Amino acid sequence: MTKTETTMARGAQGETVNGTGAIDIRDTRTDRSYSVPILPPGTEGDTAVRAMDLRAIKTSPDEFGLMTYDPAFMNTASCMSAITFIDGDKGILRYRGYPIEQLAENASFLEVAWLLRNGELPSQSDYDGWVHDITFHTYVHENVRAFLAGFRYDAHPMAMLCSTVAALSSFYPEAKNIHDPQQRYISVIRLLAKVPTLAAFCYRHGKGLPFVYPDNDLGYVENFLSMVARMSEPRYEPNPIFCKALEVLFILHADHEQNCSTNAVRAVGSSHVDPFSAIAAGIAALYGPLHGGANEAVLHMIEEIGHPKNIPAFIDGVKAGKGQRLMGFGHRVYKSYDPRAKIVKALADEVFRQVGMDKDLEIAMELERIALGDDYFISRKLYPNVDFYTGLIYRSMAFPTAFFTVLFAVARTAGWLAQWEEMLTDKEQKIARPRQIYVGYPERPYTSKLTEKTPAVPKMPPRR
Ligand code: CMC
Repeated sequence: MTKTETTMARGAQGETVNGTGAIDIRDTRTDRSYSVPILPPGTEGDTAVRAMDLRAIKTSPDEFGLMTYDPAFMNTASCMSAITFIDGDKGILRYRGYPIEQLAENASFLEVAWLLRNGELPSQSDYDGWVHDITFHTYVHENVRAFLAGFRYDAHPMAMLCSTVAALSSFYPEAKNIHDPQQRYISVIRLLAKVPTLAAFCYRHGKGLPFVYPDNDLGYVENFLSMVARMSEPRYEPNPIFCKALEVLFILHADHEQNCSTNAVRAVGSSHVDPFSAIAAGIAALYGPLHGGANEAVLHMIEEIGHPKNIPAFIDGVKAGKGQRLMGFGHRVYKSYDPRAKIVKALADEVFRQVGMDKDLEIAMELERIALGDDYFISRKLYPNVDFYTGLIYRSMAFPTAFFTVLFAVARTAGWLAQWEEMLTDKEQKIARPRQIYVGYPERPYTSKLTEKTPAVPKMPPRR
C-alpha cells in the first residue's frame, strides 16, 4: 500500500485528517466511498485537496487511478507561495502582505525586488548592499555586442532579449550550481543588473544607435533611461517625472503570482536548469499578446480604430467574435477593476500633464467608457487590466511600441527570480510534468503508405 492509500484508507474509516475536514466521494463504478482530506487553508482561507489523493480512486488495483483534468490550470494550485496575494473579486494585490498601492506610492523598485526575494523589507544596510551589488554587475561581456549585431535591424526586441538572456547562461557556467545559495545570489544579482542593460542594447540596435554603457553613478531607473536615450551629452539627466513613472510601473509589474510567464519560469526551472535559461523561458511566455504582449497590442488596436467615432463598430466586432478581442481588457484572476490599472490611470494623468495629452488617450478613454457600460463586458466581468493604459504612458516617453513588453520583462525579472528560488527551496516541488488523457489511436500495426498514390503536395515558394 502506498502512503496515499494508507491515508485514504484511514480517511475512509471516517477519521478527520489533520482536523481540517475532508470531502466524501462515492465512486458509482465501484460503489466505494473515499474521504479526501482538505488541506489546511492558506493564510487568506483558500483551500484545496491534493490531486495525488485521488489516485487511490480506481476500479481495480492495477489501474492508474483517478486524475484531475484542468486544461489551462483554471482551478489547480501548482504550488504554495508566500510571495504575492491576489483577490481577483475584490481587486486586491499585495506583495508579501504589503498593498500594491502603498508600495507604488512609497517604495523603490529595488526595495520591492528585495522584498519579493527575502520576504521582508530591507534595512538600510541590507538595501545599500543590494543596490551596490546590482549596480556593479550592470556591464555585460563584450561578446554580447557581437551577438546582438547578428540580429536584423527590424528584429523584435523581445526576441532579442529572450535570446540574449539565454545566451548569458553560456557566460556563467557556474550558475548551474543552483543548490548553492551563494551561486543563486550572484545569479539573481546578475540578472537584475544585466537585463536592463540588454534591454537598452536591444533598443539601440533597433534604432541603429551606438550602445551606451551603464553609468554606475545613476540609480536603477535613471541608468536604464540613460542607456536608452543618452546621445552625446557627457551625463544624462533624465526627466524626473519619467523616472518616477517608470519606477512605479516597474513596481506594478514586478510580480503577479502564478501567471503564464511565472509558471513557465517555475516549470523550466524545475528541471534544475540554470536561472538564465529559466528566465529566458519567462521572457518567451511574456512575449505573447494574451500576456505581456497585450500592452503592445492595445496600441495597435487603438491605432487601427483611429478615431472615437469608429469605436461602436469596433466594439460590435469584438462582441460578435469577428475580429480581435478588446486588448487590455479582461483577466484570468481579476473579475473587477485590476488594482494596477487604477494606479496606471492616475499615473497617465500625471505624465500627460507634463508632456501634453497623448492623441490616442481620447480613444482609450472612450473605449473604456463604452465597454464598462456594455452588458457583454459587464456580464463577463471584463475590466481594464494593467496593460490598457501603460502603452500610452510608454509612448509619451518616446518608447517604440515594440519595446513596451521589454519594459514589462525588465520589471518582472524581480518576481520571476523570487518565484524561481521559492520553487527550488520548496521540498514538495519536483520536476513539473503534467499528466494527459490520451485520446489518440489505440495500438495499430505499421504499414507503409509511401507507395500509395496521393496528389502531389505543392512545393513551398521561397520566402524571399
Ligand atoms: N475582449 C472580448 N472578450 C473577452 C475578452 C476581451 N479582452 N477577454 C475575455 N473575453 C470573453 C471571452 O470571449 C469569453 O466569452 P464567452 O464566455 O462568451 O466565450 C469570456 O470573456 C471568458 O474569456 P476567457 O478567454 O475564458 O478568459 P481567460 O481567463 O481564459 O482569459 C485573458 C484571460 C487575459 C487571456 C483574456 O481576458 C484576454 O484575452 N484579454 C485580452 C488580452 C489582454 O489584455 N491580456 C493582458 C492580461 S493582464 C497582463 C498580463 O497578465 O500579462
